[in-house]
Amino acid sequence: MMEDKDFQNSCYGDRVLTEEENLRLQSDNALVSEFEQLKLEKEAQKNWDLFYKRNTTKFFKDRHWTKREFEELSSLRPLDDCSQRRVCLEVGCGVGNFIFPLLEEDKSLFFYACDFSPRAVDFVKSNPLYEPSRCSVFQCDITTDSLADNVPDGCVDIATLIFVLSAIHPSKMVDAVRNVAQTLKPNGVLLIRDYGLYDHAMLRFSKGHKLSDCFYVRQDGTRAYYFSLDKMEEIMKEAALDKVECCYVRRSTINKKEGIDVPRIFIQGKFVKPTTEGKIDDSQAIESTVRPLDNR
Ligand SMILES: C[S@@+](CC[C@H](N)C(=O)[O-])C[C@H]1O[C@@H](n2cnc3c(N)ncnc32)[C@H](O)[C@@H]1O
Repeated sequence: MMEDKDFQNSCYGDRVLTEEENLRLQSDNALVSEFEQLKLEKEAQKNWDLFYKRNTTKFFKDRHWTKREFEELSSLRPLDDCSQRRVCLEVGCGVGNFIFPLLEEDKSLFFYACDFSPRAVDFVKSNPLYEPSRCSVFQCDITTDSLADNVPDGCVDIATLIFVLSAIHPSKMVDAVRNVAQTLKPNGVLLIRDYGLYDHAMLRFSKGHKLSDCFYVRQDGTRAYYFSLDKMEEIMKEAALDKVECCYVRRSTINKKEGIDVPRIFIQGKFVKPTTEGKIDDSQAIESTVRPLDNR
């Protein structure tokens, strides 16, 4: 029986590895060939689309924790003057597990949402909660397509990247975030949740799955990057977003029967688009509590 147990809700440093874990990571230094890596990059969209073909809407659970984790998603801030409602953009929306609970709870929200899997986009459109007057979903690859084709520049209050940046090649992460930042209005916020350095899943990859430092390929061809705080902050800085907070979130999954404690590590961050004067308006930057939740 698996039981999830919170064991922290504040910021910690990098997880300290055991000697055995250290040796295991250090000995895994044979990288996937360049040819295979190029193929994975070329087929990234196809591999995610096949993921949704196999799993349909059944893989990820609805994310009901998001308001607790990110207070910006509650109706705390005044409505934006460029639109009569609060405008959100969920990038890499999958089948909508993040957006639908929020749309259901908060009638003031309007969601733009995109994913590069056409199947995922179709699943969102066929969800009974999908209302075109409150949600606009479209297919796009954020590493190559400008979001401006579907989202007016500077009109988004809150953008979210939930377990998405990790799926993108590290050389394209900054441009992908710049693409998202372009849609944010000044003082608009980017909320991010993703895999953290030394997460249990990172340590479990067997040899033959490593693409580069902290970057691995799963059996199904989808890829996962495990972020350190420094790496995440560097990406956001290069994309000209200011840090409000960035923390590791730890979660312990206990397997009672086997007595195993599985340490999951996620990274959670909040970054703000500066105003043209280059300052964050502090009144808009709301502290959020950081607590564990699920992942892929
Ligand atoms: C782990 S899923 C997360 C889904 C969703 N954010 C959620 O929280 O349920 C990652 C998603 O990112 C999408 N994705 C990966 N790379 C992308 C890219 N370059 N452009 C757009 N979407 C991408 C995948 O298709 C997949 O649906």
